[in-house]
Amino acid sequence: MNLKDIYKPVQREMFAVERTIGEKISSSGNGTVVKVGGYLLRSGGKRLRPALVTLSAGAVTAKNPASVSKKIIKAAAAIELVHMASLIHDDVVDHSSIRHNKPTINAKWGAELALVLGDYLYAIGFDLMASCDNSGVLEALSQASRMMCEGELVQVAERDNLGLLKEQYIKIVKNKTANLFAASCQAGVMAAGRMSKEKGMLKDYGLNLGIAFQIADDSMDIIGTFKELGKLPGADFKMGELTLPFLNLISLLRDKKKIYKLLAQKDSLAAFGEIRRIFITSGALDKTREDVAYYADKAKNSLRGLKNSACKTSLSALADRMVQRIKV
Ligand code: IPE
Ligand code: IPE
Ligand code: MG
Ligand code: MG
Repeated sequence: MNLKDIYKPVQREMFAVERTIGEKISSSGNGTVVKVGGYLLRSGGKRLRPALVTLSAGAVTAKNPASVSKKIIKAAAAIELVHMASLIHDDVVDHSSIRHNKPTINAKWGAELALVLGDYLYAIGFDLMASCDNSGVLEALSQASRMMCEGELVQVAERDNLGLLKEQYIKIVKNKTANLFAASCQAGVMAAGRMSKEKGMLKDYGLNLGIAFQIADDSMDIIGTFKELGKLPGADFKMGELTLPFLNLISLLRDKKKIYKLLAQKDSLAAFGEIRRIFITSGALDKTREDVAYYADKAKNSLRGLKNSACKTSLSALADRMVQRIKV
């Protein structure tokens, strides 16, 4: 299933989320926010997290009264604003110059503006979440944001650590990415007025989906093309970030010295090309795909207790997509 079909059960809600984000940015009354925020909105993004909020809400409720669905839209928009803020900051941290096929905020307007605009988007994201009048969703977002910062902090601290363990990598990924996925699912359930065991199921789903998603993203950073990604591949190689694809490659190769030597040549396109080639031919790509499938399966299994619905089918199809995303 493609993303458009996956989003179909919540198409109306996704339009409303887009409108809400646009209004929140345009009502700021600040020229820079309106201009740069508009650029950001036009650049797009998959809107995965709002889809998780609305699909999770849809999977646990038959029909939403208008007052409830308003909260769901607000929660979804709030989480996307926090995600957008995190990407602006991440592009400063990763020295990334292109995202969504366009110059990043730091490349176009400088790191100072990127940092402050990111702060602003965090703030209006929380502002919007607070207006849901639901302490559960606010708590979910604040905890996920705190853990996201922890994940980014540890990832920076562990750059160039060739001895990084898989468990350490998974912890980083849980923190920086998967917790926000889990919070999105939980927020959907809570904003829909449900507090039952479904919240736990969808939290587990989001967490495992998020891990699968980040491993797939890290794989595509090695094998993907600029055209496919809309961002420059090789960012992790360049920054010395030992993501799971690299850890799998190191553990599979006998000649570790060769791979360490290549990893040290961070500015060499030829070295990156050679790493890419060995990653594909050594079996490390297949191993990494198995890792993604493991977490995607776990995500799907977490949905077993939910009653059948179009939203549940979409959530399950989203997990399948994580494995399908990795292609050379
Ligand atoms: C990018 O997330 C950051 C990661 C967690 C890898 P997305 O791929 O969901 O970002 P969008 O779609 O560009 O918003
Ligand atoms: C995503 O990490 C950052 C956050 C979750 C904040 P990456 O650095 O891997 O994401 P991309 O590759 O820049 O999208
Ligand atoms: Mg990055
Ligand atoms: Mg990063």
